[in-house]
Amino acid sequence: MKILEINYINFRNLIDRNVKFSPKINLFLGKNGQGKTSLIEAIYFSATGKSFRTSKNVDMIKHGKNKVGCYIEYEDRISKKNLSIKIDSLKKEYSSNRKKIPYDEFYGKVNVISFIPEDIELIVGTPAVRRKFFDGEISQGSEEYFKNLKEYNKLLKIRNKYLKEGNYKNEMFSIYQEEFIKYGARLIKKRLEYIKNISIILNLNYRKLFDNKKELSLKYSSFLGDIKKIDLKYIEDLFREKIKEEFFKEIRYGYSNVGPQKDDFLFLLDEREAKSFSSQGEKKSIIFSLKLSEIDMILKEKKENPIFLIDDVSSYFDSIRKENILEYLKKRDIQVIITSTDKMDIEAQIFYVKAGEIYENC
Ligand SMILES: Nc1ncnc2c1ncn2[C@@H]1O[C@H](COP(=O)(O)OP(=O)(O)O)[C@@H](O)[C@H]1O
Ligand SMILES: [Mg+2]
Repeated sequence: MKILEINYINFRNLIDRNVKFSPKINLFLGKNGQGKTSLIEAIYFSATGKSFRTSKNVDMIKHGKNKVGCYIEYEDRISKKNLSIKIDSLKKEYSSNRKKIPYDEFYGKVNVISFIPEDIELIVGTPAVRRKFFDGEISQGSEEYFKNLKEYNKLLKIRNKYLKEGNYKNEMFSIYQEEFIKYGARLIKKRLEYIKNISIILNLNYRKLFDNKKELSLKYSSFLGDIKKIDLKYIEDLFREKIKEEFFKEIRYGYSNVGPQKDDFLFLLDEREAKSFSSQGEKKSIIFSLKLSEIDMILKEKKENPIFLIDDVSSYFDSIRKENILEYLKKRDIQVIITSTDKMDIEAQIFYVKAGEIYENC
């Protein structure tokens, strides 16, 4: 999949314009504070409807304005298409080929993988950071997971309400609870499958690009304890058992103490948790390997490479490593959009970013 061009209006400090991309490597150079991250963010926003640096959409609107919009043209295996998104008076609107669509339909049409300095939070941050990330990634490749997740969150809210109000003897409670178990088990099963697959690729990528003497793996840590089989019925039964064990506590607390919203994903380097034992450099390499593995996962699920966005590459790697990585991506025919404060010795379409304006190097 390739993004051909973007148009943005009132996006942060960027001056409204149209930028056309090369299908290979695009390098945006500029000093700090010029708008490089904003440009990558605008692309990410156009593809996912979200920002990677704020949960408040209004932050993306240029100061002093009240709306923001982006339009992208892209090409997948089948044809050229376009997507647009706008926020106007706090309302978000999504369109595909100029027809309004709901978010569920918008999300997943254009697959992007981003790599930004803040991604280190995936290792050092809270379990909630990792859950949000993996839920998003699994959803990009599986519409079914996305729908199950939405349904599960709805059921979790309902169950919490019943528990909070002490209505657990109500016959509706047990009906909702069965649904809660059913959807929760589906999420856990899919997460386990995903982790199993990505963990192998993750290790291969890490060893190939960074350190062939270490083993990197990803492990799912569940409220259910050790899950011996990736089998729906088996997970549902474990879940039901766990509810029995925890039920008095849940009644006392007045909210759900069980479910995949409690689970975590652990990065292990040579069997030790990276969060506590890996060096800063190793953490960066682990995250980069993770992002490459996601590319492989998308390719497997969608039969198409996603677009790879890399922000501020100079803050991550030395120049030899940077060039190796880009050579590798180029060989795989992945479109890369990258920002850097320093020039790089690679074949790329070069742009300069200065005070929100983009200049092309012809
Ligand atoms: N909503 C906004 N409206 C206008 N300017 C903004 C907005 N949000 C951030 N900025 C400004 O945009 C500039 C560029 O930021 P950024 O894209 O992070 O730069 P870079 O990545 O090149 O260092 C910063 O000076 C920042 O203060
Ligand atoms: Mg930046």
